[in-house]
Amino acid sequence: MPTTLSKNRSISLKAFLEEAVADHRRHARFLNTLSFLEHLGSRKIFLSHRRSTLPGGVLQHLAEETRHASFFRRHAEKIGGRRLAYVPDDMLAMASSFYYFERLDARIARLAGEERDLPYYYVSLAIERRALELYHRYEEVLENAGRPLTLKSLLAEERRHLAEMEEALKDRDARHAERKSSCAAIEGPLFERWFRAVSFAP
Ligand SMILES: [Fe+2]
Ligand SMILES: [Fe+2]
Repeated sequence: MPTTLSKNRSISLKAFLEEAVADHRRHARFLNTLSFLEHLGSRKIFLSHRRSTLPGGVLQHLAEETRHASFFRRHAEKIGGRRLAYVPDDMLAMASSFYYFERLDARIARLAGEERDLPYYYVSLAIERRALELYHRYEEVLENAGRPLTLKSLLAEERRHLAEMEEALKDRDARHAERKSSCAAIEGPLFERWFRAVSFAP
């Protein structure tokens, strides 16, 4: 598993996740935040392909990200014991989650320049790498806390998405090695900003 978090960040992420899992109300809001991020991801896939003929692989990716949003919402409601929505009170740092996606999208679009089909692959690549890192750590915390929730099938899908993006970029972009590291450099500080907002959310 590629690690993109520094050791200190990884420790504070673990501390944050342990604290969130220990408190039902906060845990539900965190899960609903993950649901919102998955929803924004599926919305981005849809918007980036609105003028395309939607190849089967993209349609499947879109469906799976929407299902992830639904999975996290379902568990958020189960843990929270109430109906939730995408509103600030039901999430941790809703505005920052939106900002994370918007900035990532805009900066990667700039990186890809005139090559209009590339941002979908690079944005997905950056997000899949981050999702794997975050969900993997969350899964460990859930296991240690003895919670019945597991992310195993979701992690398997994110792993497949990442492999598909890597494969597609090798075929489509001669500059993929250089652009992949530029994407990581774009996404890292945006995630740090999102994580700070989520950590300090009341
Ligand atoms: Fe996902
Ligand atoms: Fe994914």
